[in-house]
Amino acid sequence: VGKFWQFSGEVLEKMRKNPDGHGWMDYSIRKQKELPEVVTDSYLHSMMMAGIVAAHETTANASANAFKLLLENRALWESICANPALIPNAIEECLRFSGSFVAWRRKATKPTVVGGVDIPEGAKLLIVMASANHDERHFENPDEMDIYRDNTTDHLTFGYGSHQCLGKNLARLEMRIFFEELTKRLPHMELVADQKFEYLPNTSVRGPDNLWVRWDPSRNPERTNPDILGTRHSVKIGPPSKQDLTREMRVEALERIGDNILGVTLKDPNGNALPRWSAGSHIDFEVGEFSRKYSLCGEAGDNGTLKVAILREDNGRGGSLHIHQTLCEGMSVRIRGPKNHFRLNETHDDYVLIAGGIGITPIIAMADRLKAIGKPYTVHYAGRVRANMALVERLMRDHGAVTTLYAGDEGQVLSLDATVAALSEQTHIYSCGPEGLLNALQDLMEPMAERLHIEHFSAVATGLDPENETAFEVELADSERTLTVAANETLLDALEAAGIDIQSDCREGLCGSCEVRVLDGEADHRDKAMSAAEHATSDRLMSCCSRAKKGSRLVLAL
Ligand code: FES
Repeated sequence: VGKFWQFSGEVLEKMRKNPDGHGWMDYSIRKQKELPEVVTDSYLHSMMMAGIVAAHETTANASANAFKLLLENRALWESICANPALIPNAIEECLRFSGSFVAWRRKATKPTVVGGVDIPEGAKLLIVMASANHDERHFENPDEMDIYRDNTTDHLTFGYGSHQCLGKNLARLEMRIFFEELTKRLPHMELVADQKFEYLPNTSVRGPDNLWVRWDPSRNPERTNPDILGTRHSVKIGPPSKQDLTREMRVEALERIGDNILGVTLKDPNGNALPRWSAGSHIDFEVGEFSRKYSLCGEAGDNGTLKVAILREDNGRGGSLHIHQTLCEGMSVRIRGPKNHFRLNETHDDYVLIAGGIGITPIIAMADRLKAIGKPYTVHYAGRVRANMALVERLMRDHGAVTTLYAGDEGQVLSLDATVAALSEQTHIYSCGPEGLLNALQDLMEPMAERLHIEHFSAVATGLDPENETAFEVELADSERTLTVAANETLLDALEAAGIDIQSDCREGLCGSCEVRVLDGEADHRDKAMSAAEHATSDRLMSCCSRAKKGSRLVLAL
């Protein structure tokens, strides 16, 4: 500690030579001149030591942990070498899976209850963030490393609220540079076999004392391609962008499963296992300039392929038409996901599943799941024309005893009134289909809106019209900050600009990933992710599109 004290003094001396230096320590040095009795020498030394430890110990150990994880999972290492755009999210997943700060101490500022345990005011706590980072209620398959995980930035390795890590974006940037440079220059690097990893016995900081790697210099890529030394990546400060999380897939099979419906089976080009997905999940399909969402409708337990059914919409925005015209077997495509914004709550007693048209795709996956877990359910599947009702054969094979089909061209009509009137008090409805069907269901279920679960695929309105918007204030209760959201920006934009990590995906009010808890104030809800009843309670909002009601100030749990 004595030597470290001296070293900190040397760094301070160096900084004193540049009186105009930018940053917190330089500012403190200037303040010392004005207020030497407040900003003492001892204070400056302590702050320098704290800063060096906080910045070095965390990032060095986090980097060692991350290199170890990715080199041990060779397929993941090769994925980031092949597609450096995945690096920011891979780093975030390493921070979640095995961060350098596993626990930290806190003091309760007021009495509270956590997990049924009373915590009195003033209680000293050791908060094990690493445990929260593996909470299966928040992260799907938490003990699996998934560099495509779309909510990985929800980890608590950087802390949360007003005490979150001051240098989190610097740490992200440093780690990103380590990985970008080393994957570019030494993609053939590997861990030395049979090395023993030793860890400092410590309750908070975790990382191996040494991490030995090896490589063959004759295989260094710059020997055959010196140009790679000059390649540069653009740098984005902050959390990773979801738009970069694309995964290459091969079109394994195409099949007509209706007059205008194409069944598409996708596989990993290297035969790697695909992430497990749950009923209601979808993928974003990236073909040409188009990005479109399609629900997964394969059979549960198949982690070798992903299946979607794509309806050709001749009067749509062009995406499905382009896919129908260009997709061929063996073709390489990119996808994002799987993600689930239409989760099946498996704790209900009884279910009615209602599908309209191509909306059968998530519904059939839900029927599979309910059958597998032994829950009572019925399926109503309506389509305008029987020839364009997808997956009928499989639906009748696996769920025929509980399914009713309504083909419009055969005169069969699904009566939503009768279906809703026949519901028992325990029954929950899950529905996907055209907007007309979903709106009608929403109207009928208004008095019991909490029992209706629907998935929308189109937004009410997109874009912001600054002419017709007003600026408003938001108070971030946990971070102890107040922000002004200008008329020409969304709340999500303002939060991101303030360095608040917040999930987002569709950015048009459909997916529910940018949800924020509202503690006070009236929200002007503009999303489709929540029901009318949820809007009425106003205790949450979607930050990508919703705002404060005119004249209101929002207090958010952030
Ligand atoms: Fe999808 Fe806001 S980002 S609802």
